[in-house]
Amino acid sequence: AIEKKVESLLSKMTLEEKIGQMNQISSYGNIEDMSGLIKKGEVGSILNEIEPMRINALQRVAIEESRLGIPLLIARDVIHGFKTIFPIPLGQAASFNPQVAKDGARVAAIEASSVGIRWTFAPMIDIARDPRWGRIAEGCGEDTYLTAVMGAAMVEGFQGDSLNNPTSIAACPKHFVGYGAAEGGRDYNSTFIPERRLRNVYLPPFEAATKAGAATFMTSFNDNDGVPSTGNAFILKDVLRGEWGFDGLVVTDWASASEMISHGFAADSKEAAMKSVNAGVDMEMVSYTFVKELPTLVKEGKVKESTINEAVRNILRIKYRLGLFDNPYVDEKQPSVMYAPSHLEAAKQAAIESAILLKNDKEVLPIQSSVKTVAVVGPMADAPYEQMGTWVFDGEKAHTQTPLNAIKKMVGDKVQVIYEPGLAYSREKNPAGVAKAAAAASRADVILAFVGEESILSGEAHCLADLDLQGDQKALIAALAKTGKPVVTVVMAGRPLTIGKEVEESAAVLYSFHPGTMGGPALADLLWGKAVPSGKTPVTFPKMVGQIPVYYAHNNTGRPATRNEVLLNDIAVEAGQTSLGCTSFYMDAGFDPLFPFGYGLSYTTFKYSNVKLSSAALKKNDVLTVTFDLENTGKYEGTEVAQLYVQDKVGSVTRPVKELKRFTRVTLKPGEKKNVSFELPISELAFWNIDMAKVAEPGDFGLWVAPDSQSGEEVFFKVID
Ligand code: IFM
Repeated sequence: AIEKKVESLLSKMTLEEKIGQMNQISSYGNIEDMSGLIKKGEVGSILNEIEPMRINALQRVAIEESRLGIPLLIARDVIHGFKTIFPIPLGQAASFNPQVAKDGARVAAIEASSVGIRWTFAPMIDIARDPRWGRIAEGCGEDTYLTAVMGAAMVEGFQGDSLNNPTSIAACPKHFVGYGAAEGGRDYNSTFIPERRLRNVYLPPFEAATKAGAATFMTSFNDNDGVPSTGNAFILKDVLRGEWGFDGLVVTDWASASEMISHGFAADSKEAAMKSVNAGVDMEMVSYTFVKELPTLVKEGKVKESTINEAVRNILRIKYRLGLFDNPYVDEKQPSVMYAPSHLEAAKQAAIESAILLKNDKEVLPIQSSVKTVAVVGPMADAPYEQMGTWVFDGEKAHTQTPLNAIKKMVGDKVQVIYEPGLAYSREKNPAGVAKAAAAASRADVILAFVGEESILSGEAHCLADLDLQGDQKALIAALAKTGKPVVTVVMAGRPLTIGKEVEESAAVLYSFHPGTMGGPALADLLWGKAVPSGKTPVTFPKMVGQIPVYYAHNNTGRPATRNEVLLNDIAVEAGQTSLGCTSFYMDAGFDPLFPFGYGLSYTTFKYSNVKLSSAALKKNDVLTVTFDLENTGKYEGTEVAQLYVQDKVGSVTRPVKELKRFTRVTLKPGEKKNVSFELPISELAFWNIDMAKVAEPGDFGLWVAPDSQSGEEVFFKVID
């Protein structure tokens, strides 16, 4: 029925009205300033409107005063929450819990749609293996499978049961594609991803998002091997529409059509518009080359009207699916849904599950009732804006609960809280402040140091070449360690930081990324044991920047490091020339990262045993069942993220040393043991092989059921013809 409506409307549209639908503008001025264009039918979508009254007024102009009354699509970057801010997506990924991602997106959709927003530019599902890249904060980390699962869950959360439910907003998986592989981790930079790697590593999360029903896609800023995504017909037509059958709307990133001029891929705005539309873009974000150039391009036959028609169909289809033709206005009088108790509770749970316990010597955590004085130190202890992280346009400081406030509220008068931040913000250099904080902290039984990165240190165009703690934060941790009191370091950041020294100096380290509105109560619960950490690293933590890129699913070299290598510091000066074994490692950093992918501790301990496979030899259409026992061998009830990794031993092309294929969260009481199972269809072992065909090749496989990507006993199976 929708297709008929689309065709009927399309048949009534002039070329100019069609091109108008392909134009997205950014909100400016007052309603009158924008209404001229809207009346003429020159606007299909507006981004960055958030006031229900203004949105309705704009919509009224489109419905009542434009010739065909086509509703506007109102868009906004609602990335990890609208008002109630959830942990940054990288933090959510650390939960290894798709429900966390789905709930977060649902809450965001309910809040954003209540003001009239019906389209978000999320989820960001760029695989990112370089933490220098500021936008690593916005995605799900380095792993293809984890990103695919979490991204699909976000799509489902944003879009709800049906797109035409007024609380649903259209998702926009982005950035299509390869943007996370920016050379040197410098934003917008070129990428060089050959087709096989593109298909094996970067495309699967987008395919999963398509399968989850994503309504729209956004092209990326980067040029891959010389072709900017906005002008790349291979990815937009052949793969997205041809192979995956996507029938939604493709929008450019902000001015990425006209930026093809700077790339040197288009001579001028006319060529930029031509190359974008002919490559398969439907809507242009803010750079106006379409409205300006397409009428002439069509007249000259350089862009076919049938191509324009196809783009407009894709746009109208989504507007119909969202129910905008029947229900274009938002209810201005509905009671506020912002910061609803259930939203805050979901955000708190997400922050709890996103935190990763990286170290816990002598069980300093959870804090015991014998602890009567704690020192709360560091620039992130009471930084309501900074703990929300990047892409927070609408979340408010006033509603954010910080660790300092949450701790005070929780401990009441049972524990004395000494607050001496030392540094006002993460980049501050203030030796006197550090000394003052250390002196105050020395009076406490336990020191809680909240350090990390301010919000603006990660996110778009906020890349870093140095990933150490900024300002005097390193000096602060060192000074606190010198007091001899146990230091619990809590890191709030948009990326993995190179914190090896601070890990050594601390008794415990809890990594919470930017935990959002409810970060404070979540961390207070974790520190005092009302909740038990269960997060796992969604990205490898490097020891030092020079190790980057460092990720677990790498291919093997012909000379793999053995993990027993001799480091430079261990070589006697008089040893002279040494072969060092001629393997692939850094003499100063070795081979291993600081923390591998999938790593995270709990207050309790878990034992894996009895791994069994349903068969040792399977055919391509079979399903492998893997069972194992998981036992809680510690003192606390806790949740373990059990992970299943596979290695294809020999392929027609070299294969990664390990690949995550399944994970599950298992909650166990102390002493409890469960038999857990994973089902893995052999078809999911398929990869793009030497013939550029997706095939599960016969041969030997290794398999690990493990608490992280570096542990576990290997078991073996075969795939047979
Ligand atoms: O959605 C974003 C995108 O990720 C980066 N450029 C701007 C867009 C709209 O704000």
